[in-house]
Amino acid sequence: MSATIIDGKAIAAAVREDLTRRTALFTERAGRAPGLVGIQVGDDPASDVYQRMKAEAAEGCGMVSRRVILPEGTTQAELDALIDELNADDAVDGMLVQLPVPEPLAEPAIAARIAPEKDVDGFGPGNLGHLMRGEPGSVPCTPSGVMHLLSTAGVPLEGANAVVVGRSLIVGKPMGQLLLAENATVTIAHSRTRDLDAVCRAADVLVVAVGRPEMVRGDWIKPGAAVIDVGTNRTDDGLVGDVAYEEALEIAGWITPVPGGVGPMTIAFLLANTLEAAERRAGVTTGSD
Ligand code: GUN
Repeated sequence: MSATIIDGKAIAAAVREDLTRRTALFTERAGRAPGLVGIQVGDDPASDVYQRMKAEAAEGCGMVSRRVILPEGTTQAELDALIDELNADDAVDGMLVQLPVPEPLAEPAIAARIAPEKDVDGFGPGNLGHLMRGEPGSVPCTPSGVMHLLSTAGVPLEGANAVVVGRSLIVGKPMGQLLLAENATVTIAHSRTRDLDAVCRAADVLVVAVGRPEMVRGDWIKPGAAVIDVGTNRTDDGLVGDVAYEEALEIAGWITPVPGGVGPMTIAFLLANTLEAAERRAGVTTGSD
């Protein structure tokens, strides 16, 4: 039997369609469109592509989007001054600094500087604190997208063994919190985990975010498990995930492809965070699906 393929592209398109409708409603009620600013330091080609995709997606759903590209060699003080200016700008509902940033810039200083109500990446200490406390706030976009894929596919989480491989601030740690909030029994595994294959084999839900091409093999997967592949690795064979897809397809119950699985969800949930930030700041609600 072959796994059900979770079509992230189609699911993200549905999320964006709903956000486009709600953004129009927001704009009518607030008298302005939600505003998003993407900041990039240097000209890393991958960051450039991501930032362009984010800006185009925001405009596509009716938001006002601005990109700021600062030169390599920008100091922390210069970046801080820009963040402060945007924190104080009423037309800006959300901002993000594309990661990684070149040295000597420091991600923790950036995350702490962005006003929590405008931190649409959800990486700042305020929003991560809210997530851990189960309070409203911006939740990091990729893990939010994974949760939406799991619920849309109908994967049961209550009491399930969920294994997250990878402990990054962007994916692994918030992912664990979100699965825990749905009453899964969560294990966060990482590069020092002993017997990683056996740990994975115990998972009913396996989320892999390590950035190592096809590391998770078919025989690491419990028959019928939901396998969510967050990896996007550029190789000579094109874009591949962290899971050996063809092998996993034969064993898993559900699986996300790469590309077309988790990837499209990240931007959709950045837009959701931006609309929700705008709603909170303007005191306007448009409802959610
Ligand atoms: N770099 C890789 N993923 C992300 C993300 O979700 N947000 C930002 N700002 N940078 C990233």
